[in-house]
Amino acid sequence: MCGIVGYIGYREAYPIVIKGLKRLEYRGYDSAGVMLYDGNDIKLSKTKGKVVDLEAKALKEISTNGTIGIGHTRWATHGVPNDVNSHPHVSNSGDLVIIHNGIIENYAPLKVELIKRGYVFHSDTDTEVLVNLIEEVQKKENLKLGKAVQVALNQVFGAYAIAVFDKKNPDEIVVARLGSPLAIGIGEGEYFIASDASPFIEYTSNAVYLEDGEMANIRLHKPMKIRKIKDDSLVDPYIQELQMNLEQIEKGGYDHFMLKEIFEQPDVITDTYRGRLHANEGIIQMSGVEDNLEKFLNAERIIIVACGTSWHAGLVAEYILEEFTRIPVEVEYASEFRYRNPIINSKDVVIAISQSGETADTMAAIKLAKEKGAFVYGVCNVVGSSISRETHAGSHTHAGPEIGVASTKAFTTQITVLIMMALRLAKAKGTLSKTDFHRYLQELEIIPEKVKEALETNDKAKEIATIFKNSHNCLYLGRGYNFPVALEGALKLKEISYIHAEGYPAAEMKHGPIALIDERMPVIVIAPKQGHYDKIVSNIQEIKSRSGIIIAVVTKGDTQVRGLADHIIEIPETSDALSPLITTIPLQLLSYHIAVLRGCNVDQPRNLAKSVTVE
Ligand code: M6R
Repeated sequence: MCGIVGYIGYREAYPIVIKGLKRLEYRGYDSAGVMLYDGNDIKLSKTKGKVVDLEAKALKEISTNGTIGIGHTRWATHGVPNDVNSHPHVSNSGDLVIIHNGIIENYAPLKVELIKRGYVFHSDTDTEVLVNLIEEVQKKENLKLGKAVQVALNQVFGAYAIAVFDKKNPDEIVVARLGSPLAIGIGEGEYFIASDASPFIEYTSNAVYLEDGEMANIRLHKPMKIRKIKDDSLVDPYIQELQMNLEQIEKGGYDHFMLKEIFEQPDVITDTYRGRLHANEGIIQMSGVEDNLEKFLNAERIIIVACGTSWHAGLVAEYILEEFTRIPVEVEYASEFRYRNPIINSKDVVIAISQSGETADTMAAIKLAKEKGAFVYGVCNVVGSSISRETHAGSHTHAGPEIGVASTKAFTTQITVLIMMALRLAKAKGTLSKTDFHRYLQELEIIPEKVKEALETNDKAKEIATIFKNSHNCLYLGRGYNFPVALEGALKLKEISYIHAEGYPAAEMKHGPIALIDERMPVIVIAPKQGHYDKIVSNIQEIKSRSGIIIAVVTKGDTQVRGLADHIIEIPETSDALSPLITTIPLQLLSYHIAVLRGCNVDQPRNLAKSVTVE
């Protein structure tokens, strides 16, 4: 969702802000804007559309010099996407300029109050209310910007990451966060502000991630001061050394981030298990699990909370954890869990899965589970994210930055972490035979090779994509471990190609969806040799008898399904439990190619945001 970038220092701010906004495009947005300060004047340009549209407009409208700047990509919540509603927003006096990611929930009564005091509003946004509230506080109490921001924020409810500039005191930017991420890059004589570290990675590897409820005064040539918004107490900045590099966040020769990320999977799965999996020694070592082993072993239940693709990884984990550890597992949509007064107690372990570590519903589910006494474990990709800090303990997935809105490598690395967790717990509980335990370790170690082999289906996926690119609907079927993969395959297709797709457990077909089958309905069936092969062959026959078109993902050398299917995609053999790591690959490729052939914006699909930081 909305992206924030800011710069204060000695360089020209405009190119830094624009490049930064481009790096944040993956978050999803519908408009963009920039404010520059050149020592005399505030210069503002904003537009509905993409950052390239902003560049074109800004170059016509303003001179782009100035060493202080803030920029924003907006994902509309309050007010339609248009030029006026785009950020930055300026206060009535013209002195204060703000960019904001989040929602001010009580903006309506505040707006009424401000209108009574003579304020005029030009946009429909909650953000314009906030900047005028800050101005009102500043005027009424004769406060400096930092103090005025603090007083104003104590009057609002909701979520925010903000950066505010005051023309009257132009050597500082004030930032604050509650519920939306904000990172500050610290250079020599310069500071950077951004929703994540990607906009400033080439300038500095030192960053401070603001915690919820904190604000910072960022002043030229002065050390940064961080304080709590509520009680004004000072906080020691915790400066982190960033682990990402520039290459990781660029396309590296691929046409799209999504394709690059699909092809990165062999490497990132290796990164995920590196130092944790020691197949020859028969050891799995995950510090978060190790330090809390008793909590897991005494758990009466594991509850997994997540959204979207991460929820699908949670479903795969349910099958694996129950089979390997015999601990009962439930998987919940975080958005449902948080509002249904769930029964949880201190004997429950809650696992929160999130690529971004910023998903608002998952975050709320974690807070609820903690309040009810559960031990909460995070499986996150983004180091330093809100969720990885809010959970009691956790494991990072080490997938590297995932920029494409459609999650790919996050899914397979989440599953890798959860498989290792299940194996470690099974060893401690003695619920897997020694032979099986060692077999799984050996097999997991060579999974990256098999993923590589599965990536060789790229051409085949493209060929099939060409045939089905104009379909209006698609069904995805799988059983057991591959039922969640069917859901994930359908989600990938609908989110990037806008083709309606549904995933089902194959046997559910006859309880309704089979009525949809006709000669125009492509049915993608995940039918590897292991698992419920015979059963799924019967399901394929049922579809065939009703003239459905079958695209089957099968184990190399399969003859039976080959005889029934219209198209087959062959993948290497694996055990049933590890098969989702392989079967998902051709489905990612298929969605990718269909979306490209349909001319869709693969990396930034319409209406979607990479991290959903509002509920
Ligand atoms: O960052 P998270 O894993 O918490 O995000 C959850 C979902 O928003 C995310 O998986 C979404 O469904 C993706 N666009 C799917 O590709």
